[in-house]
Amino acid sequence: MTKAPEAILLVGGRGTRLRPLTVNTPKPMVPAAGVPFLAHQLARARAAGVEHIVLATSYLAEVFEPYFGDGSALGLRIDYVTEREPLGTGGAIRNVASHLESGPDDPVLIFNGDILTGLDIGALVGTHVTTGADVSLHLSRVEDPRAFGLVPTDASGRVLAFLEKPQTPEEIVTDQINAGAYVFRRRIIDSIPTGRPVSVERETFPGLLESGAHLQGMVDSTYWLDLGTPQAFVRGSADLVLGHAPSPAVPGRCGEHLVLPGAEVAEDAKLTGGTVIGEGAVIGEGARVGGSTVLAGAVIAPGAVVTDSLVGVSARVGARTVLDGAVIGDGAVVGADNELRDGVRVWCGAVLPDGAVRFSSDQ
Ligand code: GTP
Repeated sequence: MTKAPEAILLVGGRGTRLRPLTVNTPKPMVPAAGVPFLAHQLARARAAGVEHIVLATSYLAEVFEPYFGDGSALGLRIDYVTEREPLGTGGAIRNVASHLESGPDDPVLIFNGDILTGLDIGALVGTHVTTGADVSLHLSRVEDPRAFGLVPTDASGRVLAFLEKPQTPEEIVTDQINAGAYVFRRRIIDSIPTGRPVSVERETFPGLLESGAHLQGMVDSTYWLDLGTPQAFVRGSADLVLGHAPSPAVPGRCGEHLVLPGAEVAEDAKLTGGTVIGEGAVIGEGARVGGSTVLAGAVIAPGAVVTDSLVGVSARVGARTVLDGAVIGDGAVVGADNELRDGVRVWCGAVLPDGAVRFSSDQ
């Protein structure tokens, strides 16, 4: 394997699709499988040999350093660079350039801060070095590419185009999508314009292609999930706990559930499908929690049934309440005998009385 280079992690987005989870917490700091999601990415980078990481922060930038410090506890050196105004993905990459130690032609890894994947990082760097590319991109094969920009390649893996989300079946010319992990030749980073927002996906990549640069794709079908929406976030956390998604940072053994220290779970409560119960959370008698994330200090009252849902920090879910595909914001209170389904989002601190919402007519 080629020696791993230094890495930039993009963690400054506002995470609007994940609201209300991102009202108080930036997306990379929302816990997945018991630790901030970013901890999994840092651990995976470290396992691939990366030693120096620059975090490009913007939204709620102040919370990263108190948690990860200088990175030494993880065997890393972490630098933090905060944008005064959000600069977009490309602008954020350019903005950290002065903190890089690589030479002009050295490879620099760049990761979106919200992707859970089994990508072989060393293989991506290897592809970059052996093909002599200017930029190499991890491309993921997905079953339904309609929701993504498409990246077709030729027989040698060279990128042919960056296509917008397909609107018609004819426009689905490939099942390969930009998977949010790149290797840049250092000098390409220095060529991104400074001082204004730049989108790496919409401006930098198409511009490089147009100018004749060599953009190389590495296609695979390994585990890949964009944790940008609540449903995807909950799925990703459960997959980490179940061991379907690989990470050295899961704090415990993989299995049906992960109960963090200080949580109280009633003896007859059932925890299944990669459920995580955070520190100090309480799960009442007869409650059933499946495929869900219950964050620190939350309370699930007796008889509640929680499926594929996320319950925020110190939120409360009343007795016999049913949650299915729901997100309950930090500190919200859902009274007893409610039924919340299908992507409903209860805002932080909101209070729903007993029996206030049902999706079915029964009492
Ligand atoms: P949504 O608002 O839900 O689309 O999420 P997002 O703001 O995170 O945007 P998106 O998922 O497109 O961002 C991809 C990656 O780039 C994420 O890891 C973001 O944290 C990061 N990112 C997006 N915009 C910026 C920015 O202006 N500055 C920095 N430093 N990172 C950014």
